[in-house]
Amino acid sequence: MTDPLSRRVRAMRRSDVRDLLRHAGLPDMISLAGGLPAAELFDVEGLRAATLAALEDSPGSALQYGMTEGQPALREAIAVLLGERGIAAGAEDLVVTAGSQQGLDLVARALLDDGDAVVVERPSYLAALQAFGLASPRWCTIGVDAYGGRVEDLDAACAGVRPKLVYVVPDFANPTGACMSIERRRALVRWAVRREVTVMEDDPYGALRTRGEPLPSLAALAAEVPGASRWIAQASTLSKTVAPGLRTGWLLLPPWLREAVVLIKQAADLHTSSFAQEVARHYLASGRLPARLAIVRAEYASRRDALAEALQAGFGERLALQVPDGGMFLWGRFTDGTDPRALLPHALERGTMFVPGDAFYVDAADPGTLRLNFSAASPDRLREGARRLLEAHRALHRLAEAA
Ligand SMILES: Cc1ncc(COP(=O)(O)O)c(C=O)c1O
Repeated sequence: MTDPLSRRVRAMRRSDVRDLLRHAGLPDMISLAGGLPAAELFDVEGLRAATLAALEDSPGSALQYGMTEGQPALREAIAVLLGERGIAAGAEDLVVTAGSQQGLDLVARALLDDGDAVVVERPSYLAALQAFGLASPRWCTIGVDAYGGRVEDLDAACAGVRPKLVYVVPDFANPTGACMSIERRRALVRWAVRREVTVMEDDPYGALRTRGEPLPSLAALAAEVPGASRWIAQASTLSKTVAPGLRTGWLLLPPWLREAVVLIKQAADLHTSSFAQEVARHYLASGRLPARLAIVRAEYASRRDALAEALQAGFGERLALQVPDGGMFLWGRFTDGTDPRALLPHALERGTMFVPGDAFYVDAADPGTLRLNFSAASPDRLREGARRLLEAHRALHRLAEAA
């Protein structure tokens, strides 16, 4: 029988992270695998009030069909939020999306023909690789070091091809937690103008900085470089700051790209949930977000430190850890030859889990790497997770010695 599914779908990779999440609900599982915000820190009271306000003050907007670009009042509120982050944007520059994930998909669909070249960081956010992968692109990659994606390697990475899209996560990247240096950010914006290539900045984590000074986003830096606003796009979201269940994100796009994205979004879903948008608008208008974010940042800092310290105490030099200044992830590399794929079943058996790093590469994976999430469990549970991981590591190596 011929396969009834499209070639596109047949070529798709399953997401290891989503597959692993099946185990997350097991009793007593301490998951270091997902990318979930801390559920107990959701501002339930504030969101309840915003929901009531949406129904009482603006039932027409909350329950009716809306504009494909998004509710104007929400876009105004997002423009203010962006202004506070140093980005001069107006409501008319924005498209509200169902999370930033939809933004990545829409931009990919607007830009990519099958086989077009796309530049991503090595490693990169898995679901972005899935979204871009639908176009079976030619992948070009730049490595990531402690100062983020190696922008200086861009020309070599796409020698002989003109990429349609460069995708980067400059602040606290998923999975590495790396933060791109200001020099590289500036160089990337200048490169985009020189090479006339769209650079898509994905910024879900910038607001989750827990130490150090914030760096300007590419979207903010675009104002400094003549012509750059034509080539710099940004996706962001309320998922990590308010709640992912709202599925409310946005794209900041140059006009030529925004028009195309709006057309595609019309075909995809007409518009993002009016109800969610109205709740988000009322929540932002309530002024509660800054105080809530301060709580979230402080808690994430202590969770990061609890996990990092427990892993460092347990593994010592056998695990090289990158400890970020924000975001949700630690990135580790075993220096003792441990294969994270072989370690994972032992970890699951002992009630913890992580994502093997090779899931985040489209080429030449670094085989000893792993991603560990610290946002979703309390410091005590994270310490216990680290202890279980160490036990799993011992069990794996006992087996290897016995063989
Ligand atoms: C780098 C990155 N981009 C986008 C997303 C998607 O977020 P959203 O919930 O806004 O779709 C995530 C979620 O984990 C992410 O890590």
